Amino acid sequence: MIDTKLRSRLFPSRVHHAPRPRTLRYAHLIGWGMEVPSQVLSNSDLEAIVDTDDEWIVSRTGIKERRIAEPRETTTSLATRAAQKALDVADVLPSEIDLIIVATATPEYIFPSTASMVQDMLGATNAGAFDLSAACSGFVYGLDMACSKIRTGEITTAVVIGAETLSRVVDWTDRGTCILFGDGAGAVVLQGSDLPGGILSSILRSDGSGWDMLTLPTVSSRDTYLQDGIHQMHRIYMDGKGVYRFATRIIGDSIRDALEMAGLTTDDLAMVIPHQANQRIIDYAAKALKIPEEKVYSNVARFGNTSAASIPIALAEAAEAGKIKPGDVLALVGFGGGLSWATTIIEWSSRPERPAYSLTWGRRQGEYAIAGVRRPIVRWWRRLMLLSPSSIIRYSRYLLTRRNGAAPPHPSDDDNR
Ligand code: COA
Repeated sequence: MIDTKLRSRLFPSRVHHAPRPRTLRYAHLIGWGMEVPSQVLSNSDLEAIVDTDDEWIVSRTGIKERRIAEPRETTTSLATRAAQKALDVADVLPSEIDLIIVATATPEYIFPSTASMVQDMLGATNAGAFDLSAACSGFVYGLDMACSKIRTGEITTAVVIGAETLSRVVDWTDRGTCILFGDGAGAVVLQGSDLPGGILSSILRSDGSGWDMLTLPTVSSRDTYLQDGIHQMHRIYMDGKGVYRFATRIIGDSIRDALEMAGLTTDDLAMVIPHQANQRIIDYAAKALKIPEEKVYSNVARFGNTSAASIPIALAEAAEAGKIKPGDVLALVGFGGGLSWATTIIEWSSRPERPAYSLTWGRRQGEYAIAGVRRPIVRWWRRLMLLSPSSIIRYSRYLLTRRNGAAPPHPSDDDNR
């Protein structure tokens, strides 16, 4: 057996090693933002849609109203706006972003990822981008993924977003689910630093044996699953009682385990930000952890359950309202479809005041403007590069037949996105 030192002397690597930080870095949350549609759907509005009433909804869920996206609003547009607000708070340029992760259960497309479209809208030309599917735990999973890349020194700046337009996949005839969900997006900017703090620990868990307790079937779902008359393509199905039992079972243990991993206890917690599923589950978290209810953040009454977006929206609200101070220890806990759950412990280190409009603000607006101009130019340039004389003839013929009303619109004509 040759030892590693001898091996490297005998067989020196020909790969050029880029200089790396010698110690692990810390991932700090330096920016936050949220975007919700302006259209409000109250419990009394719901009374006109399904057989329900305000008193039943409030007593079982704590929800009073939720936001519903207008037709022009999409998961991408909400995510982009939330990310822009987070970049403003962090005072970071889109070109400085190395990675964009969008946690969502309601992407516009399976591919391209929502994250890639957000990357394009922001003009984050140096960023990698991908979507993450872990239902309501997705944002916490995303934070952990970005944090790991930052800790190793591979990247410096990441934007993690939770964004949903659940109103488009809710079964508006099912009073057991349509009362719960809403639309919105929240985002954070993470940045690497040698200063201790930021994300201290994370625990990610899954129990796929409960996959059928909360589902949203898409095109490749098993036919048998969709033939029972209960489950429908692109519609949320939920076993409410089962999910309630699961959430209350894991929430306390998950937070305690993540605290232990960070060398902390529940006494150190300044605030818990749970997934905003249901006020009864949120109250249960306080009881399970034996902490005062005021320490468990809740906005479920105003936004309902926005799945992957609920934690970053709550975090952005709490930070914006000055409820989190530097040095505070926070626990973010997500749970939902999969079944999946995740907790992350954060030592808050951001400065509480929002930076005034700076030179970077102007440069950021410039980069957004360049992204808007760049998009059509790059698309046209790419198309031009692909043109051969025969394809020009084919396309001209196609345009002629289309002018005569004989051909459907060509997919590549859609440059208005
Ligand atoms: N309005 C009025 N009545 C309703 C109703 C509504 N919106 N939805 C259901 N009901 C009725 C049911 O039909 C049932 O009537 P019945 O007894 O005559 O059959 C009765 O209320 C009780 O229904 P049930 O489903 O047992 O209610 P519940 O106490 O379990 O509450 C939830 C339902 C969905 C609020 C609850 O199970 C829950 O919060 N689960 C967790 C959901 C969640 O958080 N999901 C997201 C996780 S990410």
